[in-house]
Amino acid sequence: MSRRLFTVGPVEVFPDTLNSMNRGMMVHRGKDYQDLQHGVVEKIRKVLDIDSEVYIAPASASGFLEGCVRSAVDTKMAGLSNGSFGDRWQLIGQENGKQVQKINGEWGKALRASHIAGKLEKDVEAVTFVSNESSTGVLNPVREIVDEIRMQSEALIMVDGVTSVGAVDLKLRKLELDALVFGSQKALALPPGLAVVCVSPRLMEKAAKVKNRGYYLDLVQYKKLADKDLPLTTPPVSLMYGLDYQLDKMLKEGVQNRYARHQRMADMVRGWAMKRLGLYAEDGFRSNTISVIKLNGLDFKEFDKRLRQKGFEVSPGYGNAKDETFRIGHMGDLTEKDIQDLLDVMDETMEEMK
Ligand SMILES: Cc1ncc(COP(=O)(O)O)c(C=O)c1O
Repeated sequence: MSRRLFTVGPVEVFPDTLNSMNRGMMVHRGKDYQDLQHGVVEKIRKVLDIDSEVYIAPASASGFLEGCVRSAVDTKMAGLSNGSFGDRWQLIGQENGKQVQKINGEWGKALRASHIAGKLEKDVEAVTFVSNESSTGVLNPVREIVDEIRMQSEALIMVDGVTSVGAVDLKLRKLELDALVFGSQKALALPPGLAVVCVSPRLMEKAAKVKNRGYYLDLVQYKKLADKDLPLTTPPVSLMYGLDYQLDKMLKEGVQNRYARHQRMADMVRGWAMKRLGLYAEDGFRSNTISVIKLNGLDFKEFDKRLRQKGFEVSPGYGNAKDETFRIGHMGDLTEKDIQDLLDVMDETMEEMK
């Protein structure tokens, strides 16, 4: 039975989007493909309101989290973390043989300037952090963190935008990040399989000097080809059709309208959660794409089973918060009507389980 997904990714992909990918294949070394990639990159810039270079890889988002570390860090980075995905970027650094200064905040709380104040070690070449921490449902204050890093250091600033890009106004033009990474299967509402990174000229200058960047996710290799509107390796062409379609859809909806819709969906889910069970993330820093809801004694296994039988799917808790929470994804192309349907079914299910 197919279920409606209120998951944290992959998320629900609507039939019109699936249909947009149902087209004949094209070879990726030719004018037709170049036009497609050129258009996609231009539309990404328009949606995000940036002028940066944009590279697209056949990978999940983690591919470019690693690609950034491999391409832009020679020896040492700092990883800020207040959840599983902040930890993951630290781990990627370590596993690639980099020294990683770890600065960790409390789970469920936002990362604040005070966590970093005076702490960044002098020889750190890049600082990584997550904008929307999917394990806790915290939207970190990106502007505040970026300002604090810049006060102390000239390190590159690399941000995981996996569950914020396309749903939350990060005000990217003013932030001037060195890298912003995201993937297709979250707020872009596409199937998984594409990683995207937007990079600054400063990062690319540094990358040209970094040794052992590898090949498959080396940003310098990407640039050589992207300058000619070409992919480095064979791209998932069908997903590129889908991405092109989704970007048009976002522009048609209006980017600010899309952000406002996410705000309204988040308000609905939060209202429900506060009434029923409670939220894990601190007030004032709650995500507009993922709500992490306290179980407070709810038998999630049974709840999940019943929801699935009714054709709905949410996500379990993750990482350290796994046993005390479950998660609802309210992002992508979902509407308030979809959210209301879910809330009604969850209400009904909780009554049944009393
Ligand atoms: C915030 C965040 N960063 C990174 C990832 C990893 O993305 P992927 O599975 O596309 O590699 C996820 C996946 O859930 C995420 O939510």
